[in-house]
Amino acid sequence: MEDLRLDSLPGVGPVSTKKLSDAGVHNIMDLIVRGPVEISEITGMAKDTAENIVNKAREHLVEGGLISRDFVSASEIYKRRQDIGKITTGTNCLDTLFDGGIETQALTEVYGEFGCGKTQLCLTMCVQVQKSKEEGGLDGGAIYIDTENTFRPERIVSIANANGMDPQKVLDNIIVARAYNSAHQTLILEEVGPLIEEHNIKLIIVDSAVGLFRAEYLGRGTLSNRQQKLNHFVHLLSRIAETYNCAALATNQVMASPDVFFGDPIRPIGGNVVAHTSTYRIYFKKSGKKRIARMVDSPHHPEEEVIFALGEAGVMDPEEAEKKTKKSAAKKDTKKTTKKDVSKEKVEIPEIANAEGNELTTVETPEITEIEDQEVPTVETPEVLELSEALDEEFSDSTPTDE
Ligand SMILES: Nc1ncnc2c1ncn2[C@@H]1O[C@H](COP(=O)(O)OP(=O)(O)OP(=O)(O)O)[C@@H](O)[C@H]1O
Ligand SMILES: [Mg+2]
Repeated sequence: MEDLRLDSLPGVGPVSTKKLSDAGVHNIMDLIVRGPVEISEITGMAKDTAENIVNKAREHLVEGGLISRDFVSASEIYKRRQDIGKITTGTNCLDTLFDGGIETQALTEVYGEFGCGKTQLCLTMCVQVQKSKEEGGLDGGAIYIDTENTFRPERIVSIANANGMDPQKVLDNIIVARAYNSAHQTLILEEVGPLIEEHNIKLIIVDSAVGLFRAEYLGRGTLSNRQQKLNHFVHLLSRIAETYNCAALATNQVMASPDVFFGDPIRPIGGNVVAHTSTYRIYFKKSGKKRIARMVDSPHHPEEEVIFALGEAGVMDPEEAEKKTKKSAAKKDTKKTTKKDVSKEKVEIPEIANAEGNELTTVETPEITEIEDQEVPTVETPEVLELSEALDEEFSDSTPTDE
């Protein structure tokens, strides 16, 4: 590995090194991730000095082949993109949507209403990233920034078991950071650099990215402040993904937008800031027991939809989930019948399978659209809606910091 120590940069002596590491900048990668303006703010260095150091850091990494030069040919970019790692979701349906899996060097945002499977996807990906490259993983660990206290190690264990992996090893390769407020959430992200290096982290999860910001900055007066802070957070996340070549996966909640008369009025929160920073945006929707995932925004994927399911193995292909439910239903039924009357056993199982079959075949696209249309307005309670409506209105025209 290239020498990333701060003092390996020409002109950076022990004093600057100490100043930088006191401010949470531990290696050369961190310098690039934070950028000159922030470096000068957090260390008290003069802007020129900070710019100088960051430029040297950039040169150092370019020479070491760790980042690309400022001007590169399109074919070089193409070549670099061939090196992008992809993490399988473990399902055919979502892998199709993601064109192979969740990418490194990119920020993938998943938004949708409560219970639609955002956290389940995050938990699943923590396991999948640990698979070998042949099996679709990246042979790496995961960092999970949990802002809602919804990380469940038990789920990791069952997802690992479903994938035939050693649960203990899988748990050991996931670092969980519980964030208690938005400033803490940002601080955690600012400190992840050395952890990424040390533990070969290939996936950073933030579940949820916007929730704490939304809860803390209420009311019109605080909006531009919130957007600024949020802007800093999501940009940092995406720069970390690019610089360290790992995948960033962030979740986001939704609200109903009052100004949409045609189509789906559901919008992710966070305004333009999050929208423009995410490389890929995926919308998860409930449809009875099934879930629908739609690629909403991507520089190269077509806008398409797939159906997936949630189960013991986390996110699953609907057919797989169906098989599992049938098996367990059959098992339960066998137990019941053995207790009562063994001779009935054969008769009852097919009936149950039929009943399920009927229910499951109803999941077809035209019907789903109908169900969706009915379901949409029930996403948030009226009081919450009013508040978020007000917030979002101001949001859309108060995002001067958004690039
Ligand atoms: N062990 C399990 N087996 C099958 N399905 C499960 C299991 N655990 C959770 N689920 C499903 O996952 C759903 C919850 O999904 P998840 O926690 O990912 O929602 P979310 O999108 O993160 O919601 P929120 O916005 O509230 O965080 C449950 O409603 C249930 O359908
Ligand atoms: Mg969740």
